[in-house]
Amino acid sequence: MNTQLLHIVQNMPKAELHIHIEGSLEPELIFALAQRNGVPLSYPSVDALRAAYDFHDLQSFLDIYYAGASVLLKEQDFYDMTAAYLAKAKADHVRHTEIFFDPQTHTARGVPIGDVINGIHRACADSDVSATLILCFLRHLSEEDAFATLDAALPYRDKFIGVGLDSSEVGHPPEKFERVFARCRELGLHLVAHAGEEGPPAYIRAALDLLHVERIDHGVRCLEDVDLTRRIASEKMALTVCPLSNIKLRVFDHMREHNLLQLLDAGLVATVNSDDPAYFRGYVNANYVAAFESLPLGLQHAHQLAKNSFAASFLPQAEKDKYLAEVDAYFAAFDVV
Ligand code: HPA
Ligand code: ZN
Repeated sequence: MNTQLLHIVQNMPKAELHIHIEGSLEPELIFALAQRNGVPLSYPSVDALRAAYDFHDLQSFLDIYYAGASVLLKEQDFYDMTAAYLAKAKADHVRHTEIFFDPQTHTARGVPIGDVINGIHRACADSDVSATLILCFLRHLSEEDAFATLDAALPYRDKFIGVGLDSSEVGHPPEKFERVFARCRELGLHLVAHAGEEGPPAYIRAALDLLHVERIDHGVRCLEDVDLTRRIASEKMALTVCPLSNIKLRVFDHMREHNLLQLLDAGLVATVNSDDPAYFRGYVNANYVAAFESLPLGLQHAHQLAKNSFAASFLPQAEKDKYLAEVDAYFAAFDVV
């Protein structure tokens, strides 16, 4: 493998656009918070917990992911989790990150939504990585629950920039949340949704046409539909691709079969992200390295992916331009490898 290219990819300035903060909760922190909060765990040790991370699809992952989040009770817990992620992101040369959080996972356990948002937001404010927040609705829950969550979050409207849609995809199509997203659009929130991870291309179409999203999270199944692929390319609709997640949850059997290169070749604004780094064993750089080790990706692809990550962000244009210039300056230093 070209170690110089891997070095370039790891050190390049980048943005991360698809990271669930609850998915950054490492087993060590789960144990520490369980002890601090007196929450019983059904695993005797950190190793036993980690050994249970044996997923075969999205739902088997989500069951463990929600169980892990049960140790989060206090504002400080949300702060500590977020600060730990931001330190990892900084080490991976992430300049800007747009962080998902799942308030319903916590409010259902009686945690006040203000503690969730304030804890995560305070860690972002204390970090020298630029970080903004996207509130995700759990799609396996009802429209009514999503509306109630939105209402409860509105006193903290200045602390998040957008909303997303996550959790179990198949059987919970975007149309279930059409009215919630319409309301969020009126409120001036940015809109994203997971679509085309396990769900079919029709879910991606519905996210575009009915939810009016500005990015598709995952979206890798779009290539099954030629017209949809052309449309996504012409609209410059970004896809937040998560390579290690896709392998662990068996969207693809092996990284050699991942379609990241085909997405780029089709002219799509694909980006590389970590999704749930503590569960899929890799922060954003590990995702780049895994993809570059297994696929015929070169220096031009690295440059394109770094540019895509900022271009697809919700940063103000002047900020995007600043980071894009930093990316171009970084790559100007390298000859074609
Ligand atoms: N898909 C859907 N829901 C999620 C994911 C994902 O990859 N990660 C955390 N919640
Ligand atoms: Zn995700």
